[in-house]
Amino acid sequence: MKVKIHSLFEYLLETTDAAPEAIVGFSLSASPRLGDYLADLDPAQSLDWNGRDFRGLPALRDHVLAQAGLVGICTPADVLITAGAAEANYLALMQVLQPGERIVIEAPGWPQAEVLARAKGAEIVKVMRAEAQGWRLPLDRLAEAVTPGTRMIFLTNPNNPTGDLLSAAEVAEVVAIADRVGAWLLIDEVYAGLEWQGPRAPAVAGIYARGITTGSVSKALGLQGLRTGWLICQEAGMMRDALILRENSSEIMNIIGEVIAEVALRPARYAEALARARAEGAANLDQMNAWVAAQERLTWVPPKAGLIGLGRLAPGIDSAALARFLLAPPYRTFLMPGQAYDLPGHIRLGVGGGAAVRLEDGLDRLGQALRDWRF
Ligand SMILES: Cc1ncc(COP(=O)(O)O)c(C=O)c1O
Repeated sequence: MKVKIHSLFEYLLETTDAAPEAIVGFSLSASPRLGDYLADLDPAQSLDWNGRDFRGLPALRDHVLAQAGLVGICTPADVLITAGAAEANYLALMQVLQPGERIVIEAPGWPQAEVLARAKGAEIVKVMRAEAQGWRLPLDRLAEAVTPGTRMIFLTNPNNPTGDLLSAAEVAEVVAIADRVGAWLLIDEVYAGLEWQGPRAPAVAGIYARGITTGSVSKALGLQGLRTGWLICQEAGMMRDALILRENSSEIMNIIGEVIAEVALRPARYAEALARARAEGAANLDQMNAWVAAQERLTWVPPKAGLIGLGRLAPGIDSAALARFLLAPPYRTFLMPGQAYDLPGHIRLGVGGGAAVRLEDGLDRLGQALRDWRF
């Protein structure tokens, strides 16, 4: 079956030319510039592919294991460098899931798994996160949903869009739930490194044979445009299947993405960049919390991790209508309506993007638009 458009992407496509003056809801840290890396790049670098390994530059795969806390647990053979976490998710979902098989996903959640599972003709079972429970993943419901025959569980940790974070004990419980029926468990960790409450959870690829960890340099490091991420799994058949699908789509990684990501993930440089991103993210979240507290028509559950969370609108305000109202003059501010997550009474709030998104102006304008809103 064809891959169909999702409302999240539909809204991004529709609004690409809107040229907003501010953005509220950006999910990645401020992006570095190419110039930040020039001193570490070799002008003689060949622009052929890396020529060494179809799975990605060996040094980069070592760094990936180090940042995921998997040194001595997984080997570089368990890592495939991909075009972002998006491609890593794609390769795993498309190769693991067959028509009619069951996949259990979370809602609200990152829409990619649902879109691809639908195209595959899989049976989709959703486990709902409830706002009244702080958007926690209800593990009892997950256990009920994962029945014999369930082929895969797909989760994001930290969660997009709520910013909820599973603890190590909860990840272990999810592993036990998956293991009971032999299901694959993919945990997308694209926001890892930006935990505000509690430590980063262990990567599932290190604790479960059928665990798949995906991630990238896009979010905490702000390097989305490099299109460089990874898939980690100890099961050799899975890695081979992913490699085969990639050979028949983009074949190999882009060398510039690999080379710059290798520099960005060198331990000292990574630690410094992460410290900067964390300081900026924490300061912006403080600002956002203070701003939300002053709003009469908006509340939110602050994210436990990552740079985004969901704002709840006063009853009667439709999120899609508000997003369009806000994008038009005089506000000219972009935000993602909750319709993208099947939550029309919510908006996606976020604090990433650095100076380029003019967060403070965006919040002023959103505040004004909420006050100007007529029911
Ligand atoms: C949960 C989640 N997974 C994957 C992606 C895609 O990230 P990447 O740029 O690494 O492909 C995103 C991007 O927003 C995301 O939120």
